[in-house]
Amino acid sequence: MKTFDDLDSWSEVRRTAIAPGARVGFVPTMGALHAGHASLLERARRECDVVVLSIFINPTQFDNREDLTGYPRTPGADLAWAEKLGVDYAILPDESRIYPDGYRYQIGEKELSRELCGAHRPGHFDGVLTVVMKLLNIVRPHRAYFGEKDAQQLELVQGMVAAFFMDIEIVSCPTLREEDGLAMSSRNARLSPEARRAARLFPELLLSALPGGEVARRLEEKGFKVDYIADRGDRRYGAVHIGGVRLIDNVRR
Ligand code: PAF
Repeated sequence: MKTFDDLDSWSEVRRTAIAPGARVGFVPTMGALHAGHASLLERARRECDVVVLSIFINPTQFDNREDLTGYPRTPGADLAWAEKLGVDYAILPDESRIYPDGYRYQIGEKELSRELCGAHRPGHFDGVLTVVMKLLNIVRPHRAYFGEKDAQQLELVQGMVAAFFMDIEIVSCPTLREEDGLAMSSRNARLSPEARRAARLFPELLLSALPGGEVARRLEEKGFKVDYIADRGDRRYGAVHIGGVRLIDNVRR
């Protein structure tokens, strides 16, 4: 596995070392890899000739400084795991390389990005879409893999790729869960043992047949702060805070 923090060196490799007919699969991440990320990388490995991973904690998608500084960082372990999973290239740029324009140019969406998580984290999805557009242009993959846990992000990325006529297949990958049902997330590493024990209630109640308002009430009763529990199409979406950590999830109803 070759690693790059310098985008010029990566671009040179992309242009010269990857055969024009090779299918390139891309998994964008913010690091702190867990089994959910591993399943995306394994699928990319099965379906593509070349697998590219990016690790970049994107500051423009954080609406809160503490959340950004507290975001788990495990680059050594991430790279060791990526290598075992058969990743060919790992790109770890810093902020100045991704935002040479100082975030003057942005991608935005005016409807879905303002609902659900967008209503509670203003600007979050502008940051996500902008960095995903940049990463897709940097990597130039045929396929890019995203997890269904971040269903709103997935839908917005699919919409952006269609809106800008980008010739990239966005592959949606099922959520992986811990034994007690909690969706795998890098943020789970920040849960205290007590918060981790309580967190299992979140997927359990989301999956229940109770009305959304009652799910929110029961979670609040158990010490959760609820951003939203919302039914949309055939899915129920939720975002909560427990022990200072924000968790999101969605389930088919
Ligand atoms: O899902 C994530 O980890 C991030 O939102 C992404 C897609 C890597 C963009 O920073």
